[in-house]
Amino acid sequence: MTQPTSQPLQGTIGVFDSGVGGLSVVRALIELMPGQPLSYVADNAHCPYGPRPADEIIAFAKGITRYLQAHGSEVVVVACNTASAAALMPLRQAFPETSFVGMVPAIKPAAAITKSGVVGVLATQGTLQGSLFEAVVEHWAHGVRVISRACHGLVELVESGDVAAPETEAILRDCVAPLLAQGTDVLVLGCTHYPFLMPTLQRVLPPHVQVIEPSQAIALQTRRVLAERDLLLGEGQPARRRYAATGNPTAMQRVLETYLYERASVERIHWHRGSLLLT
Ligand code: DGL
Repeated sequence: MTQPTSQPLQGTIGVFDSGVGGLSVVRALIELMPGQPLSYVADNAHCPYGPRPADEIIAFAKGITRYLQAHGSEVVVVACNTASAAALMPLRQAFPETSFVGMVPAIKPAAAITKSGVVGVLATQGTLQGSLFEAVVEHWAHGVRVISRACHGLVELVESGDVAAPETEAILRDCVAPLLAQGTDVLVLGCTHYPFLMPTLQRVLPPHVQVIEPSQAIALQTRRVLAERDLLLGEGQPARRRYAATGNPTAMQRVLETYLYERASVERIHWHRGSLLLT
């Protein structure tokens, strides 16, 4: 069982998402740096972030960052494409002493391997409408057509654990059908919740379509940032990880056990006037 951290620990990686999605990034972080302390916040009281206005997401992201800083994090992974799209720049401005690792849909590696010249992206409305996505496409998709789809309802299904339900498969089929019809041979998962749908996604995709999700790249980038700041701990440390949820902790507990094989208790925290407090 993972030891909860009671004291702020140097080198603690702060990670947050609107819910359990960021745990797909945590899985990669643990694989790469099993001894590094970690503190995770699922803001599931406000999930999904996808349809919310940017200002609201910026306020949530700032409140969560203050909480993570208070628990010892000088490096924060915004393990949410939607929050990165809305809040990465404002966070860097508001907290210059903190290093942020953000997420953008992985257009660069997708453009490098597509043979058909068509890359599909599944993400939330917030991610696809943000200027960050537009900038990444402009910068990396030279000569490649990028077609995207906002998949409504999938985040909620992952939160409720219904990843293999017939309803989930039907939504996924509907999401990818127009992308496949236009020749997509590389599919980018632009939402951290979607890797948990992989087995179902593989049932609806033809075998030649490659799927890209960036959690390992994010873990490598986080390790680089920790090393630069001299915060990287050596091997052989006991795992000290702390998990907190602003809403019902059940979904998180289930994902931790099922996908991360992690038996850890999830603390309940709550919002009070823009700050996060222990319940
Ligand atoms: N996991 C998130 C993302 O990567 C959030 C999805 C949502 O809350 O809508 O975009």
